[in-house]
Amino acid sequence: MLINPDPVVVENSYVKNYDQLYKESIENPEAFWEKIANELFWYKNWDKVLDWQYPYARWFVGGQTNIVANALDRHMNTPVADKVAMIWVPQDDGGVVTYTYKQLNEQVSKFANGLKSLGVKKGDKVMIYMPRVPEQFIAMLGCLKIGAVHSVVYSGFSATALKTRITDAAAKVLVCTNAYPYGKKTVPSLENVKEALKDNKSIEYVIVVERVKTGPVSDSLPPVLGDQRQAEKIASAQSGGPSSSTPVFITWQNLISKQSVQCPTEVMQSTDPAFILYTSGTTGTPKGVVHSHGGYQVGIYATLKWVFDIKPDDIFWCTADAGWITGHSYILYSPLINGITTFIYEGTPTYPDIEIWWKLIDQYKITKFYTAPTAVRSLMKFGEEPLKKYKLDSLKILGSVGEPINPEAWLWFYKYVGHEKCPIMDTWWQTETGMHMITPVPSVPLKPGSAFKPFFGVDADVVDEKGNKVPPNTQGYLIVRKPWPSMLMDVYNNSKRYHETYFEKIPNVYFSGDSAKIDEDGYYWIVGRNDDVIKVSGHRLGSAELESAFVSHPKVAEAAVIGKPDEIKGESIKAFIILKQGVTGDDVLKEELKQLVRKEIGPIATPDAIDFVDKLPKTRSGKIMRRVLKAQELGQPVGDTSTLDD
Ligand code: WTA
Repeated sequence: MLINPDPVVVENSYVKNYDQLYKESIENPEAFWEKIANELFWYKNWDKVLDWQYPYARWFVGGQTNIVANALDRHMNTPVADKVAMIWVPQDDGGVVTYTYKQLNEQVSKFANGLKSLGVKKGDKVMIYMPRVPEQFIAMLGCLKIGAVHSVVYSGFSATALKTRITDAAAKVLVCTNAYPYGKKTVPSLENVKEALKDNKSIEYVIVVERVKTGPVSDSLPPVLGDQRQAEKIASAQSGGPSSSTPVFITWQNLISKQSVQCPTEVMQSTDPAFILYTSGTTGTPKGVVHSHGGYQVGIYATLKWVFDIKPDDIFWCTADAGWITGHSYILYSPLINGITTFIYEGTPTYPDIEIWWKLIDQYKITKFYTAPTAVRSLMKFGEEPLKKYKLDSLKILGSVGEPINPEAWLWFYKYVGHEKCPIMDTWWQTETGMHMITPVPSVPLKPGSAFKPFFGVDADVVDEKGNKVPPNTQGYLIVRKPWPSMLMDVYNNSKRYHETYFEKIPNVYFSGDSAKIDEDGYYWIVGRNDDVIKVSGHRLGSAELESAFVSHPKVAEAAVIGKPDEIKGESIKAFIILKQGVTGDDVLKEELKQLVRKEIGPIATPDAIDFVDKLPKTRSGKIMRRVLKAQELGQPVGDTSTLDD
């Protein structure tokens, strides 16, 4: 099925001829990206567009910039300064927050000055463990403004997950909320923070946003707030004195109240790190994916602009969370760099009711709406009736990200949300790629379920294990041959993993970990991960982390975890457990194990099913063959078992 674009969409589109521009871009990617970089602000221009020393790409080398200089500063002396930068709607009525660019700049400066008052310097790491509240975004911008490196941890992750990340980053400051509303519940997030900080040596300050003002949670703030010790500690940090090993807690309000609304933006090298975002891989602990100031901003600026045809009056709603890359690139940084209004809703798609998203789209006249297949499927199950009350006529372009979108969900989204007028941009990309990689632009004919073709300047292909292109309609490994500007710079603290994960499986190319097919028309169809990463509701989880949570239970000897297709969530978690000798498995133990994984990783990682088994398929070297387990579970052929032990 081919869906042709609406003529109005084509007329408004920046890119009218995909094939021609793609050809030009790929013949000379450096010239292509340089032209885009020239649309942004640089304190000093680069000496060299790309320094490619395989497997490290360094973009705009010698250039000086700062993401914040483009996201905020450069708008200050233009009409954009008075335009709304951010609209934040809390999950329960009332208290909508809007900031113009100028107001946001002031808040960011105050927070940045607050960080400085705590002794935070260029290159220091700041953890941000927060739900979707305005302060989360202000904190992110505030860090970059002074050259500090942020690392955002998804608020749904547990204390243990937070602790691992804080330790790896050796962060100095942590920003969090005391608690936050989530549907009908209140999540006592500060409890997690306190647990994560036990025995921690690096965090000196914890900045607490009081999202929940009343009740026992706010009373549970550590008692040091505003007292003498806090003042002494800050004074001592400012004079470079010794810091004690227990962190000082300070409220956001106290930190910023007396700070100036002016703060110079730190001049950064293009290749300086802007942030670290931890993501799950095949093995071991999460990897700290490092992104730069210079290249990253160029990639995310161009992709949003062309994929969503960004115009000055756009109100862009990306429903992701800033705990994931989608939130970094397309809730915060790129919309601001493009000078448009970014819309944020604190709640979930079904709270306070299943119509909330449609209501908000009409009320705030959202023009571009970017969400995940899981959300579409979960709303689709309520049928079209709830949508019929709403006009949804402000919408111009829709987007999908995070997992493959099945044609049925695609068509429902297209028909009932977009009224067959809004093309759907199915964008394939990753934490590591920073920006959209395989994606349509609005003017091209679409096939429901296909992510179209590579973005300009992106040399992606589907190959066999030797790196040879596979014939059309044949499944292979999705790879990228040449660097792109917002490509990850490294794995923090672990360059070996950078090499092994991305550049050693198939020589000379970036290995994405996904499988795909290219059809006879050159359209890409993403099949899914070819490693042991599981995508639950678009959230990326590693089987190794899940398994290590299981085996931390005293009754568990071994564990293997697979992702099983799930109608709504994309994948659900199924675990196979070998119990220690003499232990019998029952439902009580199953429930205990589920709770354990929730506690160790977070509610999103709750397993749907647990089987107690006597043995697991392993290779002769003792590696669990999850692929075999999965095939058995799904009643599919198990494939090559030559390395299987017996
Ligand atoms: C999957 C999210 C199919 C893919 C931006 C990738 C997709 C992983 C799509 C990265 C899509 C993302 N179609 N699959 N449009 N977008 N994926 O790092 O398996 O959280 O490798 O980044 O999500 O997940 P991550």
